[in-house]
Amino acid sequence: MKNIYSNIRIFNNKSLLKTLKFLGENHVVALPTETVYGLAGNAYSDQAIKKIYKLKGRPKKNPLIIHFDSFRDAENHVHLNKNFFKLYKEFCPGPITFIVKRKKNSKISNLATSNLKTIAIRFPNNLKIKKILKKIKFPLAMPSANKSKSISPVTANDVYDEFHDKIKLIIDGGNCKIGIESTVVDITKGIKILRPGIISENEISKILKKKVYFKKIHKKISSPGLLKLHYSPGIPVKLNKNNAGKNVAFITLGKKYNENFNTFNLSKKSNLKEAAKNLYKMFRIIKNKRFKKIHVVKIPNKGIGVAINDRLKHAANKR
Ligand code: TXA
Ligand code: MG
Repeated sequence: MKNIYSNIRIFNNKSLLKTLKFLGENHVVALPTETVYGLAGNAYSDQAIKKIYKLKGRPKKNPLIIHFDSFRDAENHVHLNKNFFKLYKEFCPGPITFIVKRKKNSKISNLATSNLKTIAIRFPNNLKIKKILKKIKFPLAMPSANKSKSISPVTANDVYDEFHDKIKLIIDGGNCKIGIESTVVDITKGIKILRPGIISENEISKILKKKVYFKKIHKKISSPGLLKLHYSPGIPVKLNKNNAGKNVAFITLGKKYNENFNTFNLSKKSNLKEAAKNLYKMFRIIKNKRFKKIHVVKIPNKGIGVAINDRLKHAANKR
């Protein structure tokens, strides 16, 4: 089916060829991944990277994640250690990003990595992007396809909602399976979780046979985690609320709360995976319905709840 927006295309041979052509010419293309949609550009090209930063309005000191098809493609650019291989074997391709040390001879644009001595690498698990990565001869720098500070997009229309016709091509991959961004782990020295995600502290701890936590502040690392307001629907968000007035959107979890025109249930079964998948989708619906404020019920802070609470705290400007 043809989408009403002229720059959105379903994935077929024709749009694949167009994607390869645009990426090869150092243009930016929006692509689906299993987590959220990304703004993809040739990671070797300063020109492509500049376009990504400009479109997002992103501060230059906030580095991008570099996406590869497999660790064999990443080996030329970064040092991979034992912890990397343990986690890679279990979770990749999948929703996890590794911060690793850069090799001196890597051709990856220093603009993409904010001149750091480390690089964030990820191996996305989505058939469309995997097909694209296999066909190109460069890795893809790819932040989430939203304006800086805004909510990540989980459908092609969400990307359009952020950028309208400013992107030449948006590949429609349907709804993202996971719906929030990858877990970011720094494995350069020991192991630290910089951004929680669907792959939880416990799962990582189990594989490494050592307790690993998400720590709220890593002073030295330049990360939007340090920007207070982030993942924001653009209206005030209040946390740990048990009710909401008529003009306030109410985000709930579980069977306890009645359905209503202003009530948005993350998961009736209180399933946190489903809740994470619905979070940005609901934020965007609420924003577009022009509610002036959001109340959110308390979300259990364990497992995937840690990632949901992290995004909620940022949205509420509390971190
Ligand atoms: O699921 C995802 O990770 C999505 C999809 C599109 O792959 N991408 C994504 O990218 O969320 P972005 O740019 O929105 O978030 C990347 C995060 C930022 O918090 C950034 O600061 C951090 O990774 N980061 C990138 N390079 C880093 C580095 N060398 N050291 C520490 N943090 C880094
Ligand atoms: Mg982002």
